[in-house]
Amino acid sequence: MEKPLRIAITGAAGNIGYALAFRLAAGNLLGPDRPVILQMLEIAPALGALEGVCMELRDCAFPTLDGLVATADANEAFDQADICFLVGARPRGPGMERKDLLSANGQIFGPQGQAIAARAKKDVRVLVVGNPANTNALIAASAAKGLDRRQFHAMTRLDHNRAISQLAEKTGSHPREIRKVTIWGNHSSTQVPDLSQATVGGKPAMSLVDAEWYKGTFIPTVQQRGAAIIKARGQSSAASAASSAMDHMRNWIQGTPEGDWVSMAVPADGSYGVSEGVVFSYPCTCKGGDYQVVKDLPLDDFLKEKLAATEKELREERAAVESLLG
Ligand code: NAD
Ligand code: LMR
Repeated sequence: MEKPLRIAITGAAGNIGYALAFRLAAGNLLGPDRPVILQMLEIAPALGALEGVCMELRDCAFPTLDGLVATADANEAFDQADICFLVGARPRGPGMERKDLLSANGQIFGPQGQAIAARAKKDVRVLVVGNPANTNALIAASAAKGLDRRQFHAMTRLDHNRAISQLAEKTGSHPREIRKVTIWGNHSSTQVPDLSQATVGGKPAMSLVDAEWYKGTFIPTVQQRGAAIIKARGQSSAASAASSAMDHMRNWIQGTPEGDWVSMAVPADGSYGVSEGVVFSYPCTCKGGDYQVVKDLPLDDFLKEKLAATEKELREERAAVESLLG
């Protein structure tokens, strides 16, 4: 057995936390030879529920689970953490946009960014899931003095996986045959699901679907999938969010397959005309534990206009939380 990986999960007694904790404890992130210690953070009123989660985790007798911490103290939860999943935040209800959560949730992420900088490993990787994820990641990164902003990502992998699934269904193919789907921009209804480079079984996706389906059905379906799940379930996505969070972290650590990329919301670096100051979802490849934005893909006028709209929304979100940015 290798040295245990310390994984912090915030909001661990919530819906996503409940799905994520068991998969991590079962060794589904890095495999059966990499034990984990779960360091779970909750607000004080939820510590009773979190104790119940710990009881169930112990009852599973997972061979890969080397320890559990359940706490309301961020310093304890992030202590020596290798990986942090920042999930703890309010979810939206029907009729809300994710950015409506900014005033309630934004203030969570500054103190957590500070605690991560103070207590986690210096090479910690942080994935923000709590909404609005891109701007919460910006807040956390700006508070984490001494760490590189590139260590703070937000999750658009669920949107990426949704796009693959929609394309597979439309083309009668399997998700494993699909490559090079991209989600650009914000994890919000302005996100830009892009099939212009995608392939299905090696064939260009756009040669297999018509433009009307792409623009009129595919894009809005992916953009609105979160709201559709809330309508159907009465609660926001949980198991699919946990699964996608693990996909994001696994690729970041272990790399992306040759000939493919994944969508990751990372600090904008000027690529595709998006200047610094927002966390923007790009096509990314990962190698040696680091990520790179895929550069110089051609964008037609339709995509350029959509990218500008999602960037504008992110700049507006940023302006609304300027006082929280260190
Ligand atoms: P939930 O309400 O079931 O659970 C959230 C948990 O966070 C609760 O147990 C709550 O006590 C805890 N919490 C609140 N404030 C906290 C704090 N300061 N520190 C630690 N814990 C805290 O919600 P959920 O369904 O698990 O969703 C969590 C968040 O993830 C929501 O904001 C939701 O919108 C978001 N989400 C994002 C994606 C994505 O793709 N990026 C997907 C699904 C959900
Ligand atoms: C999702 O995409 O499922 C999450 O962001 C939850 C939501 O509010 O839609």
